[in-house]
Amino acid sequence: MERVQFKVNGKQCSVGCEVDSDTTLLDYLRETLKLCGTKYMCLEGGCGACMITATKNNKDVPQAINSCLVSVTSCQEWDIKTIEFIGNRLKGYHPLQKVLADCHGSQCGYCTPGWIMAMYSLLQTKKPTMLEIENSFGSNICRCTGYRPILQAFKKFASDAHNSYEISDIEDLKICDKSGDVCSRSNCSELDWCMVSKNDILNEILHIELSDKRHWYRVHTLSDVFGIWHEKGTESYMLVAGNTGKGVYPILEYPNLLIDVTGISELKGFYVDQNLVIGAGNTLTDVMKIFKTVSATEYFNYLIGLNDHLQLVAHLAVRNLATIAGNLILKNQHPEFKSDIFIILETVGAQITIMTAIGQSETLTLQNFLKEDMKGKIIMNVLLPPLNESHKIVTFKIMPRAQNAHAIVNAGFLYKINENQNQVISCRIVYGGLSAKFNRSWKTERYLVGKSLFLNETLQDALEILENEIIVTENLPDPPVQSRKIIALGLFYKGLISLCPSTVLHPRYRSGTVKLHEKRPVSEGQQVFDTNPILWPLSKAIPKLDALIQCAGESEYTDDIQALSGEVYAAFVLTTVALGTIEKIDPSEALKEPGVIAFYSASDIPGVNSFTPPVNEFYLCNEELLCNGEVKFYNQPLGIIVAKSQKIANKATTLVKVSYSNVRNPVYDIKFAKNDPSKVTLLDSRDATMRGNDISKIIKGDNTVYGQYHFAMETLLCLTRPTEEGLQLFVTTQWIDTVQQVISRMLEIGHQRIDIYVRRLGGSFGLKMSRASQVAAACALVAYKLNRPCRFINTLSTNMRAVGKRLPCSTNFEIGVNNKGVIQYMNYELYSDNGYVLNEPFLNMTFESFTNCYRTDSWNYKAFNGLTDTPSNTWCRSPGSLEKIAMAELIMEQISYELNQDPIEVRLANLDPIFRDDINEILKTIKVNSDYAERLVSVEKFNSNNRWKKRGLRFSFLKWAPFGYPHLNIEGAFIMGVGYWTSENLVVDGQTGELLTNRTWDYWVPQARDIPQDFRIYFREKSFSRELIFGAKGTGEPATCMGIAVPIAMRQAVSAARLESGVPSTNWFPIDGPYTVDKIALSCATRIEDFKFY
Ligand SMILES: Cc1cc2nc3c(=O)[nH]c(=O)nc-3n(C[C@H](O)[C@H](O)[C@H](O)COP(=O)(O)OP(=O)(O)OC[C@H]3O[C@@H](n4cnc5c(N)ncnc54)[C@H](O)[C@@H]3O)c2cc1C
Ligand code: FES
Ligand code: FES
Repeated sequence: MERVQFKVNGKQCSVGCEVDSDTTLLDYLRETLKLCGTKYMCLEGGCGACMITATKNNKDVPQAINSCLVSVTSCQEWDIKTIEFIGNRLKGYHPLQKVLADCHGSQCGYCTPGWIMAMYSLLQTKKPTMLEIENSFGSNICRCTGYRPILQAFKKFASDAHNSYEISDIEDLKICDKSGDVCSRSNCSELDWCMVSKNDILNEILHIELSDKRHWYRVHTLSDVFGIWHEKGTESYMLVAGNTGKGVYPILEYPNLLIDVTGISELKGFYVDQNLVIGAGNTLTDVMKIFKTVSATEYFNYLIGLNDHLQLVAHLAVRNLATIAGNLILKNQHPEFKSDIFIILETVGAQITIMTAIGQSETLTLQNFLKEDMKGKIIMNVLLPPLNESHKIVTFKIMPRAQNAHAIVNAGFLYKINENQNQVISCRIVYGGLSAKFNRSWKTERYLVGKSLFLNETLQDALEILENEIIVTENLPDPPVQSRKIIALGLFYKGLISLCPSTVLHPRYRSGTVKLHEKRPVSEGQQVFDTNPILWPLSKAIPKLDALIQCAGESEYTDDIQALSGEVYAAFVLTTVALGTIEKIDPSEALKEPGVIAFYSASDIPGVNSFTPPVNEFYLCNEELLCNGEVKFYNQPLGIIVAKSQKIANKATTLVKVSYSNVRNPVYDIKFAKNDPSKVTLLDSRDATMRGNDISKIIKGDNTVYGQYHFAMETLLCLTRPTEEGLQLFVTTQWIDTVQQVISRMLEIGHQRIDIYVRRLGGSFGLKMSRASQVAAACALVAYKLNRPCRFINTLSTNMRAVGKRLPCSTNFEIGVNNKGVIQYMNYELYSDNGYVLNEPFLNMTFESFTNCYRTDSWNYKAFNGLTDTPSNTWCRSPGSLEKIAMAELIMEQISYELNQDPIEVRLANLDPIFRDDINEILKTIKVNSDYAERLVSVEKFNSNNRWKKRGLRFSFLKWAPFGYPHLNIEGAFIMGVGYWTSENLVVDGQTGELLTNRTWDYWVPQARDIPQDFRIYFREKSFSRELIFGAKGTGEPATCMGIAVPIAMRQAVSAARLESGVPSTNWFPIDGPYTVDKIALSCATRIEDFKFY
């Protein structure tokens, strides 16, 4: 029987016919080897929780790998290390683990093993600089720490760190084949280290019939592939290279033939004849090494620029797997895919060779490749042409965050010019992200030939042609057409000014050539706070007690609890309409699927169909566990599929057929719902007690902010076991008694028969308050009905689709102000979006904070609870207060802009006198610590000297009651606020109400390179609270609210840009929701005629 052989932590392992086509390395580690230190969340290469280190064959270097992406059958010859190997309580902890723990780099700890493994892998090959370290973590997300402590810990290992840590065991670490321990190799022969299998030595095809009847082949030659196709046909196959394509286009079911092509040497390596010929099976990491090597060769210097672009493709660990051929095939199959590989290759006029049959190959341009039916064909290699100095090349990728995000728009420009006269001999203008149909600007290219390139007239004419030529189509959740269009035109200009001789380019335009993210230096961070040794351990910064075991993957989370025999897995079936009546649910197709055990719907619930606590002053009504007829929102849970594995359960949920009647379009946006009286109810109002008469201006406006997904690294999950008394549950909840109440009521069994346990949580941020009981109740229902243990794990997508989030909020206001911005009167309405039902009414809780820290006497305030056809919104760091504080701050900003007044003065003029002394003192301290006065001058100077780059410097004020004390959550909370205001965009299909951004592929939380470059936190000196004890958690919340400082500073920069377009800064402009790249691009009001060289 043929088997795939590999090593894990020094131990020989093998897999064969017992595994499925979709068994990943992650599954194998966690389920077969019980190595649960490796965590997971997204299962698509987007979060980094599953990181391991692998040496793919004896000659390779160890690399960071996302184990969720790799099929376990792809691991032939791999030498794999997991977090358990790096250090543990028996053999001692690794310096990386100790330092990360000491530096407070592990909070909930769920992401931590992934970070350690990413850093461990990095250190295997070289001693990186601080900047290289900081740049290497596009692969990993941490929602708790705000990254600063993690980066600070890892930078201690940098080559340029002060007193850099040496790790003696990193280099040359070898594990004995026999013992599995570290080995000095003194008693071993070299042969002991050879892991090459018999198949590989003899170049035999390895063939395994997998347990789901798919065929797995590991081949060694291209002819092998054709041989298999000849015998088995090409109807249903996949050439498995990195298997990362599924991170872009998820694979629900693998085809019948899976041919592992990673062992084909003809697809590897490179050579230079006239062209640079690169094997299409090289990984992107290999390609980067090849580019670096060959860039020293005459005519290939341009590869340096392409290499820079590759740094922005996915992240380091994905690049270690993903191949150039895999990427190009995705583009061939999905022309809308914003492939960066296509962009850079098409820009330089690369061609590819495809093999169509044994002994037959064809060379194609990339344009022809896109039209080619690639069925039964193999991409062999890519040919990059030699280009002399007369070829000027630039490529760009506009991303929603600094790293690991696909392009919003990407582009490449090549101009072959006559050096003396700058006349265009030929050119190539390539775009991605505009539409599936459009990737080359042929007309503009034709126009430019023969023109003098760096003339304003040429530029303007070319822009006009380009503007008419480019085809941009709507493709949700991509940003709107207009914004992608202006970005595309802007990139054309940016490309030209990047190439324009400095003698021609006006100095004001130079900053337009800067690639902001790539040029950003290493970040720094600092926390300054009082500590009094007399009080220690109170006020002493001490590492979290669990930190070390978290860093070693030894800490147990709910899903790490081992399966019991007979355990079943469950998943929700979700509605596919937002509003309508369920006529019929037909689970028969799903039940026919091998491995599916049962289906339950609302009618199977013996007691109350609800997962929210019995009605009380905070839970005003029951929320259905499973939809019982009338659908309330798109993707509402309506049933539960039970199967023998989680993957089968997830897949089978899509096979349940549901018919609906009376389907209607939803109202999902509070900005519109607030105008519908049936959707809003007045909660409370507060009348002003004074009205001033000194009115020099009346300002009317409205602002809207939207939801935020919690993005806890551990999703909602539950494990339930029938016991002799009733049920035992392990739930990811922060609210144990609610879970017990809900299940008792639902199953009609006494509370005393339900035992609830909670392991440590992998983050929550409010997600695991009330919403955890939905999964827990569903899990309990299954265990109760089947009398079998059940595991219920919400996928990231289900978590995002079916569960409520931060409450969106919308305001309307009319303000009369005097010429200093002092509010004389204000009519203010605030609408809070509760989702489909009014439960957890945060507006009621936070009514008092509606003016933030400003005077209340002149505000006529009305607060409305609003409803939309969306999931019931819930706790999320600072629910209610964040919106109110932000809305008040935006009003202060609008007053200051419209009156052209200093925003700090406007705030101080409107301040509630109770806070005057405190705020003034804090303001003074921050001004001194931040060199505010000098910065202000330099921002103004910078903005007047630079046309295409602008800066903003802004304060925001914040009243928080009760005041908290220092807690490490502050940075993480602030960064969550930054994400909320910049990149975390929830895009909903306007017709159906479906949430389209429901994966890591398109919902972007901040990463390590998105944090402030200079991240300083000062705690107020000698501050004291009678209400709270030291270390109270409350401090996570105000820091999230402080995130509003970021968009209002961005607004200032945008305002400076608008001024250049002739829009006075006194013209307020609306930006609802996060200040995403596309909204900024549109708000800048850039005039195409301002694109100039001089
Ligand atoms: C988290 C993440 C982020 C990403 N970010 C980016 C990004 O920013 N920019 C970008 O451009 N891409 C990005 N990608 C896409 C990534 O580059 C592709 O997933 C990758 O290149 C596919 O390569 P693979 O080797 O894994 O292909 P696989 O997934 O193994 O295969 C993909 C397809 O290619 C076919 N195939 C493989 N080899 C050959 C061959 N030699 N000949 C013919 N067919 C073949 C297979 O049959 C299959 O249909 C990202 C992916 C992930 C997971
Ligand atoms: S689980 Fe593998 S990257 Fe998220
Ligand atoms: S510590 Fe990183 S996600 Fe919690």
